[in-house]
Amino acid sequence: MYLVTGATGHVGGPVARQLHEQGHRVRALVRDPSRAAGLPAGIELAAGDLNDPATVAKAVTGAEAIFLMQLGTETEQTTTMAAAARDAGVPRIVLLSSAGARLLPLDANPMGAAFAAREQILRQSGLGVTCLRPSAFASNALAWRDAILAGTVTDPTGDGVLAVMDPDDIARVAVAALTQHGHAGKGYLLTGPQALTARRQVQVIAEVTGRPVAFQDVTPHEFAEAAIRQGTPPEQARLMERLNEVFRARRSVSITDDVQNITGTPPATFRDWCERHADAFR
Ligand SMILES: NC(=O)c1ccc[n+]([C@@H]2O[C@H](COP(=O)([O-])OP(=O)(O)OC[C@H]3O[C@@H](n4cnc5c(N)ncnc54)[C@H](OP(=O)(O)O)[C@@H]3O)[C@@H](O)[C@H]2O)c1
Repeated sequence: MYLVTGATGHVGGPVARQLHEQGHRVRALVRDPSRAAGLPAGIELAAGDLNDPATVAKAVTGAEAIFLMQLGTETEQTTTMAAAARDAGVPRIVLLSSAGARLLPLDANPMGAAFAAREQILRQSGLGVTCLRPSAFASNALAWRDAILAGTVTDPTGDGVLAVMDPDDIARVAVAALTQHGHAGKGYLLTGPQALTARRQVQVIAEVTGRPVAFQDVTPHEFAEAAIRQGTPPEQARLMERLNEVFRARRSVSITDDVQNITGTPPATFRDWCERHADAFR
């Protein structure tokens, strides 16, 4: 049995589905089983919360490997999962980390620093850990939905490019790392096949949907100020501001062939992802 966290999310969802389709027994740790109603019927639901060690300990029992994702910048959930896995004798864990864990300097990149700290906790736990370090998700474009429908996307990343990737490709790598030998102790830098500016991504969405969309460039600081005025907590807006400065300075560009090497299939393009999700922008 494989335990999957984040199974109602962009990556955990396809991890759970792909494992199930391959005939594996899957248990999903979910905070609210009613939100997991879209998962295939054969997937077992374990009600729980990564902030509640008792529910995590119960959910890991009997697992042969765990897919762990967590939100925010804390490390407590990682510590909780590592302890539960060790106590239950689960040998392997696949962590959804981030390319940001390798973006230096980490003090200008607190989210990356959090991922680096989580990786360290798991490595020190003695578990067989595989760290997946993806670049930006294509699904981030869903945050532009309202702006696209209104006709103008405002973005702070300028000429910065990101090798945007399809979350399904991250899931394919996760499934390989969970079910095959030889991935423990490894870290993979996962990217899409092309480095694209935000402006180019918006153009692709416009081409795929047939809906004209203008693009407005602003600085990371202007973007953060506007987000705060619209209700984003200042601390979160400042974190994003620092990350957007890194992106804008083109310090996060790399394209790897890890998805192809691990799964045998090349990663999807941003256009592929848009074609599958075009209805979300109509
Ligand atoms: N977006 C990017 O470009 C990018 C790039 C690199 C790395 N990452 C990392 O990827 C992760 C996000 O993955 P995603 O897009 O698949 O996430 P997502 O779609 O936002 O889904 C989040 C999932 O986490 C679950 N969850 C939240 N809090 C929980 C808790 N306390 N206990 C149990 N489950 C909880 C949610 O379940 P509920 O149904 O209960 O809400 C949901 O299934 C983050 O760690 C992010 O930093 C993202």
